[in-house]
Amino acid sequence: MKQTWEEEVVYQIYPRSFCDSNGDGVGDIPGIISKLDYLASLGVKILWLSPIYKSPLFDMGYDVADYYSIHEQMGTMEDFDRLFSESKKRGMKIVMDLVVNHTSNEHEWFKRALRGEAPYHDYYVFRKGKKKGVPPNNWTSMFTGPAWEYVPELDEWYLHLYDAAQPDLNWHNPAVKEEVKKILRFYLDKGVYGFRCDVINQIYKESYANGKGLNASGKGMEHYLSTEGNHRILQELYRDVFSAYPDHVVIGETLNVDIPTGERFLRDHELDMFFTFEHMNVDKALGGGIMKKFRPEKLRKVLFDYQQGVRWNAIYFENHDQLRSLPRFGNTKEYRDISAKALATLLLTLKGTPFIYQGQELGMLNAPGRDVDESLDCACRSIYKLLRKSLHIPTGLAKKMACNFDRDRCRAPMAWNEERGLGFTSGKAWLPFAEDDGTHNVASEEKSEDSVLAYYRKLIRLRRERIELHAGEFDPLDTRGSLFAYRRVSGKDSVLIMINLYAKPLALPRYLQSVHGKVLLQNYSGKLEGSLPPYGAAIIALE
Ligand code: GLC
Repeated sequence: MKQTWEEEVVYQIYPRSFCDSNGDGVGDIPGIISKLDYLASLGVKILWLSPIYKSPLFDMGYDVADYYSIHEQMGTMEDFDRLFSESKKRGMKIVMDLVVNHTSNEHEWFKRALRGEAPYHDYYVFRKGKKKGVPPNNWTSMFTGPAWEYVPELDEWYLHLYDAAQPDLNWHNPAVKEEVKKILRFYLDKGVYGFRCDVINQIYKESYANGKGLNASGKGMEHYLSTEGNHRILQELYRDVFSAYPDHVVIGETLNVDIPTGERFLRDHELDMFFTFEHMNVDKALGGGIMKKFRPEKLRKVLFDYQQGVRWNAIYFENHDQLRSLPRFGNTKEYRDISAKALATLLLTLKGTPFIYQGQELGMLNAPGRDVDESLDCACRSIYKLLRKSLHIPTGLAKKMACNFDRDRCRAPMAWNEERGLGFTSGKAWLPFAEDDGTHNVASEEKSEDSVLAYYRKLIRLRRERIELHAGEFDPLDTRGSLFAYRRVSGKDSVLIMINLYAKPLALPRYLQSVHGKVLLQNYSGKLEGSLPPYGAAIIALE
């Protein structure tokens, strides 16, 4: 049976910034329900919701205080059930975020663990220090700084691969596995389609030996990334839970997954697809503190390697952790719309399941950088501290660098129209709006046949209609120069895709100048001739 996730497109909703129904400045579930017709008209069939659970929001919901209740700002469990049934009516399925590497420090389990209570103490990773004042090992958190926090009452340290407010669960403990299975069944029984599993290849720590290297963040990861125990757990979750729900999807957020490891996650039903990060790093230096000049050929190399190396992949260019792709890989000045469409063409014609992050279909930009003290992003604040205190980088430069890490910027509220509050809220939005203050918004783009939104709609339809595009093999054509040229092939049928991600015209190699076929979609007017215009893209059914 062909699975929905093989044919369809996923749309990521960042609920806090999607649509606010009650004027408190924060998006909520009733807001999402009010926009389901819009999502249906876009043609997406799977909606992934970033966390909506009860949480102190230290990491904006990636710190869950109760997996069985909905955050009060988001609505109620009844609202969620209604979202579910309303989506179903429109033929859309819901994917939840599953955050189980860690909980919030406000989770009941952790509060009781801190009191040394059984069985909860063993739900987390507590260890004695090496000696007084010295943590059990030298690991650093993914958000920088030591990965251990001292608890004087217990004279023990607990592990947190992220912030100290996000204590890691102890996946060696069978009780933890059973708790997670219970959570999965609770939502699957409601009819949820599946899960996007947060940092899922870090959950099983094989050992607690010191880490090597000088990493300011993630030091020690050789002991917990994609471990054998991690593979075993995912197999167990499939065996004990997912296999009972034939129509489901498990999506992994996985760090540093090379091609053989990725294939392994797919082979034994551990994951149906996974997010990699390599292509997100092509324009970064110093772990992201400095953005380098973007070179399309670098992006192509990484993408094409995965396209050829793994059976299936989650394809994305932006999300709630990554700055918007348009200013990174496209051109926000004279080629804003056409470059947004070129990137859309790439996103929706590669092999794998494409993920659209809310607003990407409009060509949305980031919010402008602001002072680190104003940022609500715990990662950004913590990185700034490292830059200043440990690396002694001067304040001005450190602030500038921290801006590149500030995830608030890509979480700017969705632009629905041009009114005050951009149709997102009638109150004061919890985060600043995108740089263009909503000039690109749903209402105005709906009016134009030529908008980025209209192009996304056409592309999504085309991808569903053409078997080559959703199920075909990937055949790279040009792997030199700066051109993206590839075919998607199904039996005797094939579709050719050509994309220019430069602000200059690009001459096509001779063998591509004389192709015979029908243009299915292109993002510029004019005939397809010997070259592609700046950011030109074309999809051609070959004869
Ligand atoms: C993932 C989430 C990110 C969060 C982190 C810790 O990378 O996407 O937003 O901060 O995990 O849960």
